[in-house]
Amino acid sequence: MTTKISKTGQGSSKGITKKQHVVAGLDIGTTKVSLVIGAVSASTQIQLAAPGAAPEINVDIVGLGTAPNTGLRQGVVVNVEATTEAIAKAREEAELMSGHEIEEVYIAVGGNHIKSFDSRGMVAIRNKEVKSEDIDRVIEAAKAVAVPADREVLHVLPREFKLDDQAGIFDPIGMSGVRLEANVHIVTAGKTALQNIVKCAEKAGLKVRGLVLQQLASSLSVLSDDEKKLGAAVVDLGGGTCDIITYVAGSVAHTSTVPVGGQHFTQDIAMGLRTPQTSAEKVKKKHGCAIADLVDENETIEVEGVGGRKPRAVLRRDLCEVIEPRAEETLGLIWHEIRKSGLVNQIGSGIVLTGGACQLEGLLEMGEFISDIPVRRGVPEQVGGLTDVVRSPEHATAVGLLNYAVDNMTAQERQRLVATPVEAGVSDVMSGWAQKVKDFFGGALNS
Ligand SMILES: Nc1ncnc2c1ncn2[C@@H]1O[C@H](COP(=O)(O)OP(=O)(O)OP(=O)(O)O)[C@@H](O)[C@H]1O
Ligand SMILES: [Mg+2]
Repeated sequence: MTTKISKTGQGSSKGITKKQHVVAGLDIGTTKVSLVIGAVSASTQIQLAAPGAAPEINVDIVGLGTAPNTGLRQGVVVNVEATTEAIAKAREEAELMSGHEIEEVYIAVGGNHIKSFDSRGMVAIRNKEVKSEDIDRVIEAAKAVAVPADREVLHVLPREFKLDDQAGIFDPIGMSGVRLEANVHIVTAGKTALQNIVKCAEKAGLKVRGLVLQQLASSLSVLSDDEKKLGAAVVDLGGGTCDIITYVAGSVAHTSTVPVGGQHFTQDIAMGLRTPQTSAEKVKKKHGCAIADLVDENETIEVEGVGGRKPRAVLRRDLCEVIEPRAEETLGLIWHEIRKSGLVNQIGSGIVLTGGACQLEGLLEMGEFISDIPVRRGVPEQVGGLTDVVRSPEHATAVGLLNYAVDNMTAQERQRLVATPVEAGVSDVMSGWAQKVKDFFGGALNS
């Protein structure tokens, strides 16, 4: 794989020839829509050093647009108009920031309608040496399972291959053998749920290049290759659902969803403290903690009253006592799902929590207490360019879509990127300048 995410975003300013085009990731979430634009470039440096070698592909963030969304419930569109409007707003903002107009996007899909299962396929090797066509054929064979008419296959993710009697092979190309078997993880989605998502994007003037499982996208931006190899579970704690993906030995081994999210925490607070949802959301973000014992028992906070009643002071401890059982239940359900997959002993690097709701104070500590394995918070790290604007767990999905877009560029697109030199565009210059300003202030602050 030649994809590499630039850490500097300064390709052209270093004098390396850059050949650029843009990719876009659209995350239509239950609480917000975010659209991230990335500039993809091929570095010619590696080719100068080793002619014929595959070029290194970098993607730098050049634009981000976000808009609140009220048109989704637990990952499913319930209001096409509101969702379309939110997409259009996020698009406009991202295009303005980047100076690029986008036509097509990769979209993340998640929620309750997603189902997954394992399958196997087997083919005979034609010339006694495995070629990429044999991989395609064996995956096709594994895919040949009956899927109900109201569902669509979203991904067929190879877990491992078996060549004759040798199991545990991850890259069989070039190996000799006569019988190739594949063990794959198949992810399916509700047809109408997908159609409605596509409809909203198209109504906002965007062409859909591909649909990607939300937690798969998130994992691509927050998880390192080492963690994938050692085994890890990524949990995207969103507003409506918690979406889980488990990697074992570098491949996706399991995916699932828990139908609880940050909105349930907010509802509990609104009910428990008798305050409007907007105020409950505010106090949750500012003063919330998953473990009530961690907060000072005398600290007070102000919450708004309902129906025109005056704001009143409540103990912060009381707020956290409302949050604690919900946090415990949610993490308990997540841990139950991970255990149910039977892969707990194979996730050596632990759990990575991402998505907006993982920002709740005390959640990591509670997660470690419940699971007894390491838990960390995941922010999009594997990016270059305007990294600061996306460095938050709620952008993990949209940024991960860019990684997915680069990984799934066609051979022709890669070729074109390398073969057609383009002048540094407006945004390229902008990101170069943004980086210089950042470096200047960074240097000034560090000195
Ligand atoms: N600091 C914080 N503390 C606690 N919760 C937070 C914090 N910041 C954001 N959240 C919660 O995160 C949730 C939104 O997360 P995110 O943006 O990842 O969801 P989404 O993508 O819109 O939803 P979904 O993925 O479920 O469709 C909201 O419920 C919000 O209240
Ligand atoms: Mg989300």
